[in-house]
Amino acid sequence: MTEIPEHLLKRAQAAKAKAAGEEVDTGTGDAAPATPSAPAVPAAPSAPAPVVETAPAPVAPYVAAAHARRKIPWWAASTLLLLPIWAIAYVGTLERQERPATGVLATGSHVYEARCASCHGATGGGGSGYALANGEVLATFPTAAAQIQWVVIGSDGVGLGNQYGDPARGRIVEGGMPAWGDVLTVEELIGVVLHERARLSGSTDDADLAKAIDDAVYGGELDLQGHLDPATVTVDGIQELLDSVTDGGL
Ligand code: HEC
Repeated sequence: MTEIPEHLLKRAQAAKAKAAGEEVDTGTGDAAPATPSAPAVPAAPSAPAPVVETAPAPVAPYVAAAHARRKIPWWAASTLLLLPIWAIAYVGTLERQERPATGVLATGSHVYEARCASCHGATGGGGSGYALANGEVLATFPTAAAQIQWVVIGSDGVGLGNQYGDPARGRIVEGGMPAWGDVLTVEELIGVVLHERARLSGSTDDADLAKAIDDAVYGGELDLQGHLDPATVTVDGIQELLDSVTDGGL
């Protein structure tokens, strides 16, 4: 067996002790022999240090409120983003549409489609009833008032074989045109007649008359509710009504 020199033994002991975490005198030479009482036993694994619950730092009330507050949901955010675009589009519609597409001519075109087109054609080209377009109806009735009266009383109101309209036109009642006075309101009657004259036959005077009527109704000066009684209606009476909105200027 080989002798291990004393100083080497000391050094080994010192190294072991150091590994075990002990302060060791590493003195050289003839220092006191290393205490064998320091066995290099690994320290028993100590229990894990108990985790100390540190109280969270106090939060300012307004920060807490901000955290507690409900966040805007994602869909609401995208909706809000679109809001300005919608607003601009909406305002645009308001500016363009100074008056909605109502008025006597709009009313009249609906009535015409529903009540008259079946006999006079969708665009007034004629059918079982006469053509009304291209100035035809203007030739029969020089005035809107005379035409309104005709539509109110129809063929029966004038009587078979009697003349109707402008005498120069030479129209004789053959029958078949219904009386509309009890069916259509005053607004619908004026509307459908002006539709035939202004739109189907292109009369600008009647387009102006329609606008004057719309203005009067819009301004509250004219009420077109009710019906014109076929038994008592006269061309003069209707003419008076129309003149009231144009001051006789048309
Ligand atoms: C059932 C078919 C029929 C319907 C519906 C009808 N008409 Fe007529 N219309 C006639 C006939 C037929 C005549 C010719 C009357 C006659 O000879 O007695 C006529 C004549 C007319 C005339 C005179 C045309 C001319 O130049 O002589 C006008 C204006 C007119 N109709 C307007 C209307 C209006 C407005 C409506 C809808 C509210 C309407 N008609 C619905 C059949 C119809």
